[in-house]
Amino acid sequence: MTQRMIEITSPLFIPEKRLLEGERPAEIFGPGPLCLEIGCGLGDFVVELAARHPEKTFLAIDIYNKGCLKTCAKAEAAGLGNIRVMRMEARWLLSRHLPLERLSAVYINCPDPWPKKRHRRRRLVNAAFLASLLPHMRPDGEFFFASDFHDYALDVADAVDALPGWESCLDPPCTEHLPGYPLSKYMRRFLEKGEPIHHVQARRVPGLVTAQTKTPTLRPGFRVPLQAAAP
Ligand SMILES: C[S@@+](CC[C@H](N)C(=O)[O-])C[C@H]1O[C@@H](n2cnc3c(N)ncnc32)[C@H](O)[C@@H]1O
Repeated sequence: MTQRMIEITSPLFIPEKRLLEGERPAEIFGPGPLCLEIGCGLGDFVVELAARHPEKTFLAIDIYNKGCLKTCAKAEAAGLGNIRVMRMEARWLLSRHLPLERLSAVYINCPDPWPKKRHRRRRLVNAAFLASLLPHMRPDGEFFFASDFHDYALDVADAVDALPGWESCLDPPCTEHLPGYPLSKYMRRFLEKGEPIHHVQARRVPGLVTAQTKTPTLRPGFRVPLQAAAP
């Protein structure tokens, strides 16, 4: 399906061109704590969180042009200057543009669930993804995952458990209640229908040194652009 591309003129929107033309991430995101929401959709979650934490910068990314447009509009309407929005694929951002040890927190809410067994490989969050995220986390960085699909959340919790660089912050590692966690549009929709949301929360293992964390090579694949093969 092709997207109807509406030009986004918001000052909060960062076209990839700016990074490709040499603007440094530090100039765009500033020196303070940086939090990333992957798949921000229409922006409800990031706007609420950014309003609660003016001391942090929030980078909201989505591959969906209209979602980026609406997220910028909501952030501007709320008068928030601590949000940046990029239309970008998550693995592309990590491998191409994001410095190592930069992220204080990463949020992924209701990612596309790909419920059919033969489509499970398309799920964004798995062991390979968590391994590629790890070197970008600050030593105290945390990862938050929420899904209406219990089996997806359990798989993510298992991947956290299996990877030496990550550890769960929850006991049990997958829970239906995370007090104070803002609601995204999809989360709200499922909860209103009486369907639970399953949360996973993990942190980078304290004391892990960057030398132990190697960035895996990005390979082209589902939603990862072909140029990913280029060095
Ligand atoms: C089911 S929607 C959930 C939106 C929002 N997080 C919420 O809970 O309301 C999933 C979103 O993730 C985006 N998305 C899917 N795969 C992505 C990827 N690889 N990188 C960035 N965004 C992605 C989609 O465009 C879509 O907006």
